[in-house]
Amino acid sequence: MSKKLFIKTYGCQMNVYDSDRMTDVLAPLGYSTTTTADGADMVILNTCHIREKASEKVFSELGRLRMMKDRARDQEGRHVAIAVAGCVAQAEGEEITRRAPWVDIVVGPQTYHRLPELVSRIDPAARQRVIDTEFPEEVKFDQLPGEHAPRGPAAFLSVQEGCDKFCAFCVVPYTRGAEFSRPVAGILDEARRLVAGGTCELTLLGQNVNAYHGEAPDGCSWSLARLVRELAEINGLARIRYTTSHPLDMEEDLILAHRDVPSLMPYLHLPVQSGSDRILTAMNRRHTHDVYLRVLDRLRAVRPDIAFSGDFIVGFPGETDRDFAETLALVDKVGYASAYSFKYSPRPGTPAANSSEQVPEDVKADRLEALQQLLNAQQLAFNKASEGKVMDVLIERRGGRPGQVAGRSPYMQAVNLAAGEDLVGSIISCRVTEARQNSVVGAVA
Ligand code: 5AD
Ligand code: SF4
Repeated sequence: MSKKLFIKTYGCQMNVYDSDRMTDVLAPLGYSTTTTADGADMVILNTCHIREKASEKVFSELGRLRMMKDRARDQEGRHVAIAVAGCVAQAEGEEITRRAPWVDIVVGPQTYHRLPELVSRIDPAARQRVIDTEFPEEVKFDQLPGEHAPRGPAAFLSVQEGCDKFCAFCVVPYTRGAEFSRPVAGILDEARRLVAGGTCELTLLGQNVNAYHGEAPDGCSWSLARLVRELAEINGLARIRYTTSHPLDMEEDLILAHRDVPSLMPYLHLPVQSGSDRILTAMNRRHTHDVYLRVLDRLRAVRPDIAFSGDFIVGFPGETDRDFAETLALVDKVGYASAYSFKYSPRPGTPAANSSEQVPEDVKADRLEALQQLLNAQQLAFNKASEGKVMDVLIERRGGRPGQVAGRSPYMQAVNLAAGEDLVGSIISCRVTEARQNSVVGAVA
C-alpha cells in the first residue's frame, strides 16, 4: 500500500540533496512524497544547525506536528511517524527526545541510509525513540539505492562531505564530521543516471567541495578539477557548478578548469566571511583578505566573464567598526553578483561561542543592514549590466503565470520569460529585457 511521505528541508543544498536521497531510500517501503504534512504517514524534518534561528525553527515546527499527530490518532486511529534528520538531529539528538518526546526517529546526516531499518523499529505503543546519530564505518553513499527519481533539469550531486578546517564560528565539522570525498566511480554513475533522466545541469556539492580528493578507478586520487573534466565528457550534461569552496583550496588546476571547460559555469560562490585580517585570523580562516582577492584575480585572468558570490558574517566576537569598514572595502573592491550575509550566531561547542568579546545585537543589526545595502546595490548593478545581453537560459519550470517559464542564466540569475512549458528542460538563448533586484526578465532571442 502506498504511504505518504512529507519531507521539510531546511538549510543548505546538501540537505536538499539528502532529502531527495531519503525519498529514494524509503521508496521501496512504499512511501511516495506529498507536498503537505497534512495526511502524511511520515513527516521528516531535515534540519539545519548553522545559526540559532535555523535550529529553533525545528522546535516550533515540532510543536505543530504534535497537534497533527494527536489529531490523526484521535480522529482516525492513524499513526503518523515523525522523524528529525540532519544537523540538529546530529547535534541535539538527546535534546530533541527530551523536548519533543512525540518524535519517533532521530537520524543524523551520516546514517539516513539506515532509515528503512529505523522505520521498522518504530513501535507506536512503546514510548521508545529510535536514535541513530553515529558516524558509521560504512560509507552512506555505498548503501544508497542506485535507482533514484528524476530530479529535474538542474540537480545537486554530493561529492564531498564534512570539513576539517574548523573555522571558529562553524558547527559543520561537528555535525557533518571529518572531511570525506566520495569515490569517483559512484559519482560518475550517479551523474550519468541523472543526465539519462533529463538533468542537464549538475551542481557538485560539498561543505568544502574544492578540497575534493576522491579515489578514482585508475588508482589515483582525483582533484575536483580532474572530476569536473571527466564529468564534462558526459553527453547531455551542459552545465557544471560546484559549491561551497574555501579560498585556500583554489588550486591552480581548478582555476585552469575554469579556462578549459566550457560547461563549467562562469559563476563561483567563494565565501570570505570578513575583510579584516585581524578577524580572519580570529576566525581561523587561515587566509588574509589579500590572498582571497588574488584568487579572484587569477580566476578573472583565465575567465574574464566570471562573476562571484560570497558569504559574510558581521559581528564576529571582537569585530570593531574599523574591522567592519574593511569588510565593506573588500566588497567594494570585488563587486559581487550576489551574496549572503549573516549576523554572527554563537553556536554551542564552537570556539568563538566562548569568547568574552561578543558584539551587542544592535551593533550586529546595524552592520548587517549597511552590508546588505551595499550587496543589494551590487546585485542590482550586476543585473542591470545584463540588460540587452543575450544569454543561455536553462528553463527549469513553469512560471508563476500561464504562458510563463522560469530558468537560470549562467550567473544563477533567476530569469522569467514568456514561453511555452514545452521548453522546460531545454537551454534557450534569451535577451535580458529588464533587470530587477532578485531576478531578470528575458525574451526568447
Ligand atoms: N553565525 C553566522 N553565520 C554563520 N555561518 C556559518 N556559521 C555561522 C555562525 N555561527 C555562515 C557562513 C557560512 C554560511 C554557510 O553560513 O557565512 O559560509
Ligand atoms: Fe546547515 Fe551546515 Fe548542516 Fe548544511 S551542513 S544543514 S548549512 S548546519
